[in-house]
Amino acid sequence: MVVPPHLTGVAAGGSSTRETDEGRRPVITRRIEPNAVGCRPGSLSAMAKPERKGKSLAEIGEILGFGNFDTHLFICTGPDCCDEPEGMAAWQAVKRAVKEFNPDLRQAKIYRTKVGCLRVCSQGPIAVAYPQGKWFHSVTEAAAADIVAYLQSGATAPHPLEFANHPLPPPVHGGDASGD
Ligand code: FES
Repeated sequence: MVVPPHLTGVAAGGSSTRETDEGRRPVITRRIEPNAVGCRPGSLSAMAKPERKGKSLAEIGEILGFGNFDTHLFICTGPDCCDEPEGMAAWQAVKRAVKEFNPDLRQAKIYRTKVGCLRVCSQGPIAVAYPQGKWFHSVTEAAAADIVAYLQSGATAPHPLEFANHPLPPPVHGGDASGD
């Protein structure tokens, strides 16, 4: 998919600026065409996931265990809420912790995703878990396993690193066709 420069404000292989607390900061970008599974060519994800090649999205969803997890944990790897190496170390720790609870990730209770920014940009690594709507700060490598264990436990009391709690509303269903 090619995103036209007028939508991104960034020319292919070029640079732009980004507003931060400290002012405008240059952002160097390189546009890379995703492959059929949405990964950048040559990335670890693209190379390490041959089992997804040629599969439909529904089949990929099954491979990933869609329908089996009850929490989606997003963790920011920086660069504004934390240094990127610190964010990546936390991300690796999250992955290790989730895998410890469920060696078969398709059965994992927590689906984990790293992201580039959750728009908090302070006291990171920042993480948020849905549907609980729990926001965490300082999710460092040392704290990551504890956050995963906390979410895995289903505890509702606030975690010491929790700074906001805004659960998603319950899903709205279309109703029963039988009229009951
Ligand atoms: S860079 Fe992490 S929340 Fe913005």
